[in-house]
Amino acid sequence: MSTDDEKGELPESPVPGLIPTLNNTGWMTESLDDFSTAFTEYAGQINEESLDIGCAYGIATLAAVERGARVLACDLEPKHLEILAARVPAKRRSQVRTQAGALPDVEFPQASFGAILAARVLHFLTGDDIDTTVQKMREWLVPGGRVFLIADSPYTGPWQSAAPDYERRKAAGERWPGFFADYASLLPPGTDAAEHPRFINPQDPDLLSRSCEEAGLRVLEARFLRGGTRRASDRDHAGVIATKD
Ligand SMILES: C[S@@+](CC[C@H](N)C(=O)[O-])C[C@H]1O[C@@H](n2cnc3c(N)ncnc32)[C@H](O)[C@@H]1O
Repeated sequence: MSTDDEKGELPESPVPGLIPTLNNTGWMTESLDDFSTAFTEYAGQINEESLDIGCAYGIATLAAVERGARVLACDLEPKHLEILAARVPAKRRSQVRTQAGALPDVEFPQASFGAILAARVLHFLTGDDIDTTVQKMREWLVPGGRVFLIADSPYTGPWQSAAPDYERRKAAGERWPGFFADYASLLPPGTDAAEHPRFINPQDPDLLSRSCEEAGLRVLEARFLRGGTRRASDRDHAGVIATKD
């Protein structure tokens, strides 16, 4: 029988600062970007439960509960949630619930959460599914609640070689200028495309802000964010913090 320590072991990683996911959806970072940190601080100050969706092994959930938050950790991959649950210190267990679920289909009751974090998951969704997700998040928030959305930008990952294409499509007014239907064509030679998502939809601060505004949320802050790896740049991620008035 395995102990809690063994159940909470993270997969080995060949890349400093990143832990591989178990379902070919990229990596969990080992450090928090500015907006994920802001989520942990905000979630720690409010009375309502918060949602960390696309939580992987809980980098943000674990930091938030240390600040006093109550968190529902949700992810597509149940094995991530098993590892996360085993990593929660015994004295914090009553603050964490886990639930498997997939965006954009997952459902929660209206006005369930005071804060919602979706860190580096939205770029795995189509544009329409991002919009549906943000509209649903507005419903899940209590009045005055906040969303913290962070997505990979066009300037990171194997798709950064296509950043000029994104810039051209953005200038031409395309609604989802970072969307690449054929992600495999952007992968380095020799990469097994089966180990990657079929498409990728990197975001920028304007796109995330538009999804929030169209969903009826008020944007508090939106900007590019620095990643957590040794080769990080100031534009690895795009982020928005928005509130439900
Ligand atoms: C790149 S990791 C990000 C993990 C962590 N939030 C971070 O910022 O490092 C993406 C996570 O989102 C989950 N995920 C991918 N697609 C999802 C979806 N449609 N609904 C919910 N979770 C999803 C994956 O299982 C994975 O744990």
